[in-house]
Amino acid sequence: MKHELIEKNIGLLAIFIVIAISFGAMVEITPLFWQKDTTEPLDTLRPYTALEMEGRDIYIRENCAVCHSQMIRPFRAETERYGAYSVAGESVWEHPFLWGSKRTGPDLARVGGRYSDDWQRAHLLDPRSVVPESNMPAFPWLAENVLDGSESAAKLSIFKDYFDVPYTDADIAGAEEAVKGKTELDALVAYLQSLGHALK
Ligand code: HEC
Repeated sequence: MKHELIEKNIGLLAIFIVIAISFGAMVEITPLFWQKDTTEPLDTLRPYTALEMEGRDIYIRENCAVCHSQMIRPFRAETERYGAYSVAGESVWEHPFLWGSKRTGPDLARVGGRYSDDWQRAHLLDPRSVVPESNMPAFPWLAENVLDGSESAAKLSIFKDYFDVPYTDADIAGAEEAVKGKTELDALVAYLQSLGHALK
């Protein structure tokens, strides 16, 4: 009788459904906030260099994440193609996350070291020069735009102060010098080559 009461009252049913789902979410999700391996960086994780950090910002600006994920799921088809599946400890310093949700192109979470710097340069400037069937757009302006590094130190400081990324004072002091005069292409290639090493 009680069950019938609930099933015939859509308002009451909705309330109980929300309670049931919230409880499920609480049991599944809340423990992760205190579980060390989801909140602590991997021992092998190292912060981005100033140049890689600039490259990451260019990756965001050019919207690479629209076509590329950086999240390898724990399925055999994925790990055989891309390498070890992604774990939370790799992403604790990622602000914002660039996991993405669509793969027009391949996942890039472990692309670092897969190709030479020369290949990456040729590919970004003209994808069809190295992958004839590619439908990835070309990004020729990256080779022309030169970085002045004027914001590089501030970028590292923000990650240090707000997100506890262990940059040293020397990293921050040397950031501008490390970036100045390099092209956006140099920075983006450095970023791509840095991806995924923490768990290779
Ligand atoms: C319109 C969708 C699209 C956008 C935007 C895009 N890509 Fe791609 N990308 C692809 C496709 C499709 C491939 C596979 C064909 C190829 O290798 O060119 C690819 C391949 C790649 C590869 C080789 C990956 C591998 O494992 O073989 C890299 C690296 C890459 N893209 C980086 C980038 C970067 C960096 C940006 C932003 C500057 C970007 N892509 C923007 C579609 C895209």
